[in-house]
Amino acid sequence: MTFQLMMAVGAAVIGSVQFGYNTGVINAPQKIIESFYNDTWYDRYSEYIPKASLTTLWSISVAIFSVGGIFGSFSVGLFVNRLGRRNSMLIANILAFLAAAFMGFSKMASSWEMLIIGRFIIGLYSGLSTGFVPMYVGEIAPTSLRGALGTLHQLGVVIGILVAQIFGIESIMGTPTLWPLLLGFTFIPAVMQCALLPFCPESPRYLLINQNEENKAKSVLKKLRGTDDVGADMQEMREESRQMMREKKVTILELFRSPLYRQPLLVAVMLQLSQQLSGINAVFYYSTTIFEKAGVSKPVYATIGAGVVNVAFTVVSLFVVERAGRRSLHLVGLMGMAVSAVLMTIAMALLDQLKWMSYVSIVAIFSFVAFFEIGPGPIPWFIVAELFSQGPRPSAIAVAGFSNWLANFIVGMCFQYVEQLTGPYVFIIFTVLLLFFFVFTYFKVPETKGRTFDEISAGFRQNAGKYATDEANTLGADSQL
Ligand code: GLC
Repeated sequence: MTFQLMMAVGAAVIGSVQFGYNTGVINAPQKIIESFYNDTWYDRYSEYIPKASLTTLWSISVAIFSVGGIFGSFSVGLFVNRLGRRNSMLIANILAFLAAAFMGFSKMASSWEMLIIGRFIIGLYSGLSTGFVPMYVGEIAPTSLRGALGTLHQLGVVIGILVAQIFGIESIMGTPTLWPLLLGFTFIPAVMQCALLPFCPESPRYLLINQNEENKAKSVLKKLRGTDDVGADMQEMREESRQMMREKKVTILELFRSPLYRQPLLVAVMLQLSQQLSGINAVFYYSTTIFEKAGVSKPVYATIGAGVVNVAFTVVSLFVVERAGRRSLHLVGLMGMAVSAVLMTIAMALLDQLKWMSYVSIVAIFSFVAFFEIGPGPIPWFIVAELFSQGPRPSAIAVAGFSNWLANFIVGMCFQYVEQLTGPYVFIIFTVLLLFFFVFTYFKVPETKGRTFDEISAGFRQNAGKYATDEANTLGADSQL
């Protein structure tokens, strides 16, 4: 681990912190911002806002962030090959500054529309980040540290969530006067990232494979690895480059058409869906209300507790991911979440008879979050960069990111409505989904730990080849019949 590598990863994951901050920031001050909506409504229409309109307006304010994320993540490919990985991250900060202004001044302008637009713009930034950061980090990391450094993206996210949760409590910034500043604070990570990124190197893989700048790539690698002996890394990248000459740049359409990519694409998309449809953001967007319904007396503090557990277990994952492997951690995480979701449901259902069930619900949510961070939190984000080589990587990351954010949107938008219909049984839906993803992972997800990008895609090529031969054999058999 060199200083250069640490600094580059550190500067990149500020983008992840930004994403996390804006995921967590609307959780604690929900009531206060809702009352701003109510006041504004009253000023405009001389009546209080109807409950249904408030639910809709709030759900939109929460979920519009992921609509931004959908567009942002899908556009990743437009930037990374033209501007390079580092400059793409740098330029995206324009969005963060814009968003901070819209959200920060919304109250002054008595406009919830501005808040919603601001959330959309910071969603765009976050969608781009969830592509840029894992791609950049994956490309500059040495093979043996790729999982651990990849997990730092998620660590950035969870730290962002926790900071937002803490700042959001009433005694700090969750007040009627300070909440606009709370949302506007998004400009701070943006300033930090703009100050640091110019001192970070471009991805050597991008320099060599996309730009054909062999000397530059070599000198960046020497700095990142802290040694002049970068022959093996260069060799591996040249191999990937040769492979790419054959594949050329792969567009999103080609990605879907080619049987070569079918398997890794399915795995990438399903892993993203398993992350979001696990229900994690029902917790991170709405936990304060969930805890309130579960009879917890200080729901905001329970929310912060969930944030602390979240950070702690991401750190655990960071240390075990290179030893235990991606696949097994993902499986353990999904199963643990499913069990916790059942426990949660039991606690919510029995709450009326047994008051102490509110404690059980806290334990259930904490363990739900802990198991999430063991695998389903960090792994899907960095594994996509591992499953694809340089040619198809940007398109694959765009498609995967799109699926992730779409599912994020669905949960954010629908949770409150579904919960109104199902009451305490809402987490059963997530349990079923979690079990399904467990089975999928068990049968379809390969281990990528310790293998180079080239070895991983060669594995899929072999499988696709086998598949093609099987198909040809079957066809041959058919025609003989
Ligand atoms: C992952 C998810 C994000 C979620 C977070 C919770 O990064 O992508 O949506 O809020 O984990 O820790």
